[in-house]
Amino acid sequence: MIPRVTASIDLDAIRHNLTRIRQWTPDSRVMAVIKADAYGHGAVQVARALRDLRSESDFAGRHPWEADAFAVACLEEALRLREARVYAPIVVLEGVLSLEELRLCLHHELQIVVHDDWQLALLEQLPRGARARLWIKIDTGMHRLGFEPEKVAAVHERILARRDWQLCGWMTHLARADETDSAATQAQIDCFDAVLADRPGARTIANSAGLVAWPQARADWVRPGLLLYGASPLSGRTGAELGLRPAMRLESRVLALRDCRAGEPIGYGAIYHCERDMRIAVVTVGYADGVLRCLPNGTPFQVHGQSAPMVGRVSMDMVTIDVSAIPQTRVGDSVLLWGEGLPVEALADRAGTLSYELFCGLTQRVRRVYP
Ligand SMILES: Cc1ncc(COP(=O)(O)O)c(C=O)c1O
Repeated sequence: MIPRVTASIDLDAIRHNLTRIRQWTPDSRVMAVIKADAYGHGAVQVARALRDLRSESDFAGRHPWEADAFAVACLEEALRLREARVYAPIVVLEGVLSLEELRLCLHHELQIVVHDDWQLALLEQLPRGARARLWIKIDTGMHRLGFEPEKVAAVHERILARRDWQLCGWMTHLARADETDSAATQAQIDCFDAVLADRPGARTIANSAGLVAWPQARADWVRPGLLLYGASPLSGRTGAELGLRPAMRLESRVLALRDCRAGEPIGYGAIYHCERDMRIAVVTVGYADGVLRCLPNGTPFQVHGQSAPMVGRVSMDMVTIDVSAIPQTRVGDSVLLWGEGLPVEALADRAGTLSYELFCGLTQRVRRVYP
């Protein structure tokens, strides 16, 4: 069966990108963010690619492409990795919602982010001797998750009171790291440093944009997600310009070809009328695969390495593209939506969104292959 839409994932590119991250921040440890199924790239496959499984029990000799730990959003994502025998350290960024989840985290030796009093209260219900591994999250200005700076001293005392708990470190998250001229990031870093001034423990601040654009945010650990997948977290710059390799190539197929006359409308709502006699290819990818319906006319896909602009509206299973200038196009030919030579960032710009959303929005109908 010929897959309609294929996302080919280049695990070597992901290893390359992690190696590139180490060049930016050679003294930091790397918590590779593989939540949301590794941004659509397949969390289990990515985790396996970023650990030398032979050295899992004795993690002494580290390769530059190896992650020191993984981060996922929630327990369910962490358990999927453990089921797939990924025994590396895993951090659960949202922490837990219940005592039952907490017990599961302990059972599977997961590291838990604690960001609120009620989570600490849950932890305090554990019996003495329960070995919880904790990251404490501080809200330094994003106002989403984390303890307020004034509460940190009290939180720290509560943690120190339980000798069986391991404090893995302190965490904060940057709200505007991609805005290289904003004062907000420096203010967050200053706040974090001030609150933790005399407190021991590892620190982690930076996501992808933070670690590229804010050297002072690199700290003991960095938490890159997007960079691993080869896309740029900074607007106006592509992953390739940052020395990254795109890890995903998204391709579909030509399902039909038709010759349309000048003035004829194409597709739902007739939002496009042929400007001249045109050869239109119908391509088997639509919003049910994750291609956003808001993509405008003119969005460039590629056939035979040449640009083929989209015309008409994205429908559930199909898009239509202009292949008038590519006469060798045949039914069954591959159509590139993004990948090497066609940056995902360009498509994201067209859609008024970020490459994050395009990656994460790919649905189950898209076949993932690992050539
Ligand atoms: C707490 C936290 N750290 C790190 C990341 C990774 O972000 P990025 O993909 O921008 O590197 C995320 C992603 O949203 C996050 O929520």
